[in-house]
Amino acid sequence: MSATYTIRLISASATYTLRNKVLRPGRPVSECYFSGDDSEGSFHLGVFNDEKLIGVASFIKNSNPFFDHLIQYQLRGMAVLPDFKGKGFGSLLLKEAESKIKREHQDPFLWFNARVTATDFYQKHGYECYGKRFEVSGVCEHIVMFKHLKSKKSLKNETT
Ligand SMILES: CC(C)(COP(=O)(O)OP(=O)(O)OC[C@H]1O[C@@H](n2cnc3c(N)ncnc32)[C@H](O)[C@@H]1OP(=O)(O)O)[C@@H](O)C(=O)NCCC(=O)NCCS
Repeated sequence: MSATYTIRLISASATYTLRNKVLRPGRPVSECYFSGDDSEGSFHLGVFNDEKLIGVASFIKNSNPFFDHLIQYQLRGMAVLPDFKGKGFGSLLLKEAESKIKREHQDPFLWFNARVTATDFYQKHGYECYGKRFEVSGVCEHIVMFKHLKSKKSLKNETT
């Protein structure tokens, strides 16, 4: 991996072009505006290589009724430009977001509708599948994935 990368908080609108290129190529960019993008508590991370935005991920404050955790975030729009895939940038985005969420909340929970083609990536980061696969119209097959992001404090409580 290049040593000149940085990860920063970015606005929702700064993610749209990259989301469009990677996740909805050839489709109107308006398909890349996600519900909750600008909601309070939602945040967006960008990874830059020499000031070029090469990957994005969004963390929307949104609860899934299938889960009963109080603090839930939904990962959306995880995308790394094709030339930069497989170099660890997606992992960096995910780890940075997990750390931020754990710093700010006790026992948070992260879930998302994962493309089935990306489940191995998420499983490497400790995420589990939930329920059956389903088709997102015009995109591809998805499955819900989740991870309980236990804070150090709660881990400590469990062992005492
Ligand atoms: C999925 C994605 C975000 C992963 O980002 P990345 O920077 O390529 O991933 P990393 O380099 O951090 O990969 C970490 C590990 O996951 C593996 N991995 C990454 N993408 C994978 C995939 N689609 N399928 C299987 N394994 C994958 C890598 O080989 C690597 O394994 P290793 O640690 O054993 O070497 C990126 O490949 C991407 O944008 N894909 C297209 C869009 C997409 O599918 N987004 C997810 C929507 S749910």
